[in-house]
Amino acid sequence: MPRRTLVAVDGKYRFVPPNFVKETLLATVLANLTEETEVVVELGSGWGRNLFNVYLRCRRGDLRFVACEPADAGRRATELLCALEDGIPFAVHPFTYMEPDLSFLEGGPNVLFFTSHSIEQVTLLDPRLFDLMLERTAHCTCVHAEPIGWQRHTPLAARAREIVATGTIPDDKLSFDDEDFAENAALYSWQRGYNIDLLSIIDRYRKAGKITVKRLEYDFWGANPFIPATLVVWEKAG
Ligand SMILES: C[S@@+](CC[C@H](N)C(=O)[O-])C[C@H]1O[C@@H](n2cnc3c(N)ncnc32)[C@H](O)[C@@H]1O
Repeated sequence: MPRRTLVAVDGKYRFVPPNFVKETLLATVLANLTEETEVVVELGSGWGRNLFNVYLRCRRGDLRFVACEPADAGRRATELLCALEDGIPFAVHPFTYMEPDLSFLEGGPNVLFFTSHSIEQVTLLDPRLFDLMLERTAHCTCVHAEPIGWQRHTPLAARAREIVATGTIPDDKLSFDDEDFAENAALYSWQRGYNIDLLSIIDRYRKAGKITVKRLEYDFWGANPFIPATLVVWEKAG
């Protein structure tokens, strides 16, 4: 029998071949590059996997790429890989969501930001990040691939706030039942202190007229089926 692996795809658990690829993040980042884009920034970039892929696929010599990462090892790995190509237009910066600093963006450029499973790492996101992205750019678009789909369910969002307030983490068990898809993703996040508020922050900035949400695709993909990424694309309003 051919080998299969369990993943989350489009809000369901599915067994797929090991070489199954759903490249929505990369395709979405590439689709949101415009002629005006000057800088591509990944926040929480790890060793630079995604950013290198964007660079290799887009074939645009006019763009600058910025890898923002808190871990020394991640930044060092990115720098070592950059050293393999002369003149690669990459910069690497220390960065943390706990104290966001985008001062490396000088002169108000046009920026395409993206995040992939990095905001998940902070339980509560400092909303100043959004203010900085808007203030320090002439125009910006941001693509998120983060496991936040469960946050759209009001009872789960309320339970998450209660868990953070009380520190009492439920020890319920995960299941492989599609009916429990959102509850599983929520539980998995709560047990690991993952993010609980990105979706509500996006909604707040949208309602305040500061950003426009261009795309929202819940639970599109999870190589780990219990942390399915939701895709959000927003851009600075006006
Ligand atoms: C699951 S990895 C994802 C890495 C990369 N984005 C990718 O998709 O390959 C999580 C990343 O979030 C970063 N991270 C953890 N805490 C962070 C924080 N407070 N601020 C910014 N990034 C953080 C980690 O260092 C790591 O690079």
